[in-house]
Amino acid sequence: MTSTKAVERVLGAVHAKRKGETLGDETLAAVLEDYLGGRIADYQMAALLATVACTGLTRTETVALTRAYVHSGSTLDLSALGRRVVDKHSTGGVGDKVSLFVVPVVAACGVPVAKLTGQGLGFMGGTTDKLSSISGLRMDLGTEEVIDVLNRTGMVISGQSDDLVPGDLATYALRDVTGTVDSLPLIAASIMSKKIAAGTQGVVLDVKYGPGGVVGSEQEATELATLMLRIAQEVGLPARAVLSDMQQPLGYAVGNSLELVEALNALQGKWVPRYTELCVTIAQLMLQLGRPELDAVAAAAEVSEAITSGRALATFRTWVEAQGGDTAQIDDPSKLPSAPHVATVRAASDGWITGIEARTIGTAATQLGAGRFTYEQQIDHGAGLLLGRQVGDRVRTGDVLAELYGTVDDVDAIVATLGAAFRIEDHEPDLKPVVTAILGGKRAVEAPVDGGPAENPAPSNPSPWW
Ligand code: URA
Repeated sequence: MTSTKAVERVLGAVHAKRKGETLGDETLAAVLEDYLGGRIADYQMAALLATVACTGLTRTETVALTRAYVHSGSTLDLSALGRRVVDKHSTGGVGDKVSLFVVPVVAACGVPVAKLTGQGLGFMGGTTDKLSSISGLRMDLGTEEVIDVLNRTGMVISGQSDDLVPGDLATYALRDVTGTVDSLPLIAASIMSKKIAAGTQGVVLDVKYGPGGVVGSEQEATELATLMLRIAQEVGLPARAVLSDMQQPLGYAVGNSLELVEALNALQGKWVPRYTELCVTIAQLMLQLGRPELDAVAAAAEVSEAITSGRALATFRTWVEAQGGDTAQIDDPSKLPSAPHVATVRAASDGWITGIEARTIGTAATQLGAGRFTYEQQIDHGAGLLLGRQVGDRVRTGDVLAELYGTVDDVDAIVATLGAAFRIEDHEPDLKPVVTAILGGKRAVEAPVDGGPAENPAPSNPSPWW
């Protein structure tokens, strides 16, 4: 039931922000508590969030909001492990399967990784959904199980329980339906509170920008990364940030089991342009957070060795077994869920691919059944699409641009939209590298995974099990 005092407090905060005043730590914490306790209505909280989205928050307010989110629920204590546990966070993007690669690689290098992750919505897809392609794999571990799996295998990936940062879960749901997701301080507090509450002792933030990411421009990505690094500094959490370009989907696969197969291939040393490069950069930085004595070159060499020796894949397999998953599907990925091939999109002219609209690709994958438009929707783990080309590749008329998998009523409409998502021009594009900046750390000069960039990495007729 709403309370007069609580309503006065939240409306007082709205007026204060409109007048350019700063909200105190106690006010922010009390308003959040009032909201979770049902003492203020959704629309009153939404009014405050909308005001904040317009006026912004100071750095002190952003840190206070982060702390309020953390204290709104329980926190995980991983110190009993006796080793520094690290994590990574990605702001999300189409084809983002980075966790599937970097978590086992870093764990195989002796640095434990604990990843608690939320469910994906819309065109981006979540890590939980991708991993749920594996039969029997449990993604709902309790706290003791999280620590047990981490102890036994060096890594754990599980869905985030509802008692961790309930303040963020509730406000995020409200932001999602009130147009206030894209406020940088609100995003920063939301992301960092989850990392802090999960007990991580070092985090690499993968801040993606471009049409396929949560922020549009490199400048916004820099602002968001800087804000998150400042929060980390205030709470004493070692952190690094990578800015990554999402002008196009990451890798060739978009869809749950398709992405898992791509990650398994990369874990065996197959070079997937842009994807492998981003992964080894993040893995190297995570390794250095866990083992600060390593310099960039030594860390990159360990990352490379973990992949080429097969230890990273073996770590992943051991982890799958520990969480009840079917390891036969890891040994033979053709046993993972698959969906019927329903269409092929081909190049309508000769030239260079100068752009691939990531958002259109993500929406098409969702329409094919790979993602959700609402939280209740069931997904088809086998559905999605495989791109035949990346930006910068040369194509001839008739070359495969994408293979579509799924069950869908109107595939022609999706094919038509997808055809327009590939821009083909008569000149080479000015291609940005996938990692455009690293804040707080540096990368070894070369990403030294054996195999290197292949001449023509995508087959002309891609198949899920290439
Ligand atoms: N991801 C989050 O976890 N929170 C946000 O606010 C935006 C993206």
